[in-house]
Amino acid sequence: MSNIPENIIKDMINKAAKARIFAYTPYSNFRVGAALLTKDDEIITGCNIENAAYSPGNCAERTAVFKAVSQGIKDFKGIAIVAGKDDGELEYTSPCGVCRQVLREFVNPSEFTVVMAKDENDYKIMTLEELFPMSFGPDNLR
Ligand code: THU
Repeated sequence: MSNIPENIIKDMINKAAKARIFAYTPYSNFRVGAALLTKDDEIITGCNIENAAYSPGNCAERTAVFKAVSQGIKDFKGIAIVAGKDDGELEYTSPCGVCRQVLREFVNPSEFTVVMAKDENDYKIMTLEELFPMSFGPDNLR
């Protein structure tokens, strides 16, 4: 369950699915779209962007977070993710470890909703705390 109303969850999922179209994935053919919900109910999207040198590639979730932060937005309620291979079905996809850590920098993990979706009627919800317990964050350096 989540504090985010169902109509907004559906909007996030649909926007993540649209962002997925722009994924640049010539190496994995695994397209990911993400839609990040800000404190003010704005939705900022991202897609994964791969690279011939492999390691410079960026996940959809981090693309969305970095877009938001670079616009001065740092308070988030949740993120929706829609992903799957070009030639396959959509899969419930959770953020990779690096993206969990990047999200954790800006949110309270127990209050941040992660929506892993196939479409607006088929999704799983977890908190970041459930996906990433006992995480290291800004408080550890205070
Ligand atoms: N990827 C994401 O964008 N988000 C995830 O949650 C999982 C993985 C990307 C990275 C790479 O471009 C491709 O999916 C295959 O790992």
